[in-house]
Amino acid sequence: MLKFKLLFCIISLFSISNVQAQNNVFTIKVNEPKSLIQPTMWGVFFEDINMGADGGLYAELVKNRSFEFANPLMGWKEQRQAGSSILIINKNQPNHPNPRFARISNLNVNKPYTLSNEGFRGMGIKQNNGYDFSIWAQLKKGKNCVVTIELVTNTGEKIASSNLTISDTTWKQYNIQFTANATEPKAKLQLSFSGEMVVDVDMISLFPQDTWKKRPKGLRADLVQLLADMKPGFVRFPGGCIVEGRDLVNRYQWKKTVGKIEEREVMINRWNTEFAHRLTPDYYQTFGLGFFEYFQMSEDIGAEPLPILNCGMACQFNTAEVVAAEALDPYIQDALDLIEFANGNTNTKWGKLRADLGHPEPFNLKFLGIGNENWGPQYIERVKVFIKAIKEKYPTIQLINSSGTDDAGERFDYLNTELRKMNADIIDEHYYRDPAWFRQNAKRYDSYNLNGSKVFAGEYAAQSKGIASSENRNNWNCALSEAAFMTGLERNAGVVYMASYAPLFAHVDAWQWTPDLIWMDNLRSYGTPNYYVQKMFSLNKGNQVIPIVSNGNVIAGEDSLYATASIDFKSKELCIKIVNTANKDRTQTLEFSGVKKLAKNATISMLQCNNLLQTNSLDNPTLINPKDSVISVPNKQFTISVPAYSFQVIRVKMMD
Ligand code: AHR
Repeated sequence: MLKFKLLFCIISLFSISNVQAQNNVFTIKVNEPKSLIQPTMWGVFFEDINMGADGGLYAELVKNRSFEFANPLMGWKEQRQAGSSILIINKNQPNHPNPRFARISNLNVNKPYTLSNEGFRGMGIKQNNGYDFSIWAQLKKGKNCVVTIELVTNTGEKIASSNLTISDTTWKQYNIQFTANATEPKAKLQLSFSGEMVVDVDMISLFPQDTWKKRPKGLRADLVQLLADMKPGFVRFPGGCIVEGRDLVNRYQWKKTVGKIEEREVMINRWNTEFAHRLTPDYYQTFGLGFFEYFQMSEDIGAEPLPILNCGMACQFNTAEVVAAEALDPYIQDALDLIEFANGNTNTKWGKLRADLGHPEPFNLKFLGIGNENWGPQYIERVKVFIKAIKEKYPTIQLINSSGTDDAGERFDYLNTELRKMNADIIDEHYYRDPAWFRQNAKRYDSYNLNGSKVFAGEYAAQSKGIASSENRNNWNCALSEAAFMTGLERNAGVVYMASYAPLFAHVDAWQWTPDLIWMDNLRSYGTPNYYVQKMFSLNKGNQVIPIVSNGNVIAGEDSLYATASIDFKSKELCIKIVNTANKDRTQTLEFSGVKKLAKNATISMLQCNNLLQTNSLDNPTLINPKDSVISVPNKQFTISVPAYSFQVIRVKMMD
């Protein structure tokens, strides 16, 4: 009997607290505005990892187009006839950015020499789409060389064909356009060189014409569109560890990425060899997506550019090589010159280059990151020299500094303390942690000093299995936990000035790191649930935080609920974001104080899924995506439903 009574009490207590939680009111205090939300609050992080640039965003279809990979014929396959051959020749000129070319000899007048390129895990070809083929060539022997250009499917069917004649005896670029008559996700490019001749060839290239903004030899339109749809506040570029390089020779150098395509030096991609379990021997950087294209894309999508530059230190997970502090000048000069390239008058050296490339107007660069995941006193020693030199010449540029690789611990504490002592503008924090960490850290910034250095949550993503584990999935649990955490970023917009999920892109056949925000194959792409979380925060960020409280407290995990609210000045709407990470549907009363009247309707954008392990995929790209609805608003207090495992944004207009 006693046992039964005890059980009854427990059940009653549980029910009472359950009912109390159900009846809880969220109060939105419209007339108590807090911090302004920076236009840069939600941005994107781009790095050439997972074939994000070459093989991804950069729409070039030919892999190893200039024979500069360590194995010069990697990606190419010959069909050699008797009397034909290929020779890779090195021009052997000091510091030549593109030293190699191929010499093709064919002494068999009846049969061509055939060379085919496999593309990046095949070439994605679309029916009725136009293609731009180009080749640099010089005829060394014979009257001419006829090149037949064909696109061939996996099963050997020819789906496009054209030809051109090489007759010049000096280097010249030949261009031809053709249309494909079928769609094929894994086509190859086949070139047949006919005639009794010797010809030199280089920079063999094929681009689709349906690039972003139809720019010749440009970027993949579907991928840029996914970014544009997010309306990101900034684009961080080019990374990531790629900034640092495994060693200093292989660091990212922006000056090598601008100007003529054929003069951009190809370099091994650090992710080629980084993970033994995900080796990618054919991963190189052509820099076809270089700093000019990056600035241009950022401008196209209305995002602030946010370049991160090497600070004189190679990746500390690899060689940890540093430049002597007295020898930092060239690195600092690179930073100063990048600002001039972006913003300088067209009569300056680098401003003129920007104008020559077709953009006389400045790109209005406002932010610059010095170092990626660098740490230790060696970083502080170097970054101080950068800050002094840059601030002297460009005092208004906001500088971003690294707090290392983790959200806490010795490295973080040291850097965070030192940088704050130096009054650093913005400190870049990274956290790749499990979903629970994200839910538990929704109050992380509540205790940060509003008057100190600002924070850039520069790389973060919930890891379903473990950091950089190949079993990580972009599942709903991760996305929902990130949404919970992000309410804390928005609530603390006076401290957190910018945030970006990382990494951005991954090719399903060529990735090294998972999870990633957007996945693609050669023809298709999709946003993960995490993408939709980012997009909903970004599209509904508002301009100023207002308090949303439950019993006077911020809503950051109690009863598995998380919430934040803001005002959108332009539309005069209140944007309320609510996350429920519990397996329990509930209703929630919203009460608005400090506002005269609300519109009769509110819109709701809802992300919800009962299965925390659910993901989106190429075949089911929008399984988890926001569903919109309208509810009526009877007065300044109304009830909404808050389903289990949901993230929703409620927008309601204030009426005078
Ligand atoms: O986003 C992938 C990698 O994670 C980045 O290159 C690096 O900065 C971090 O360690």
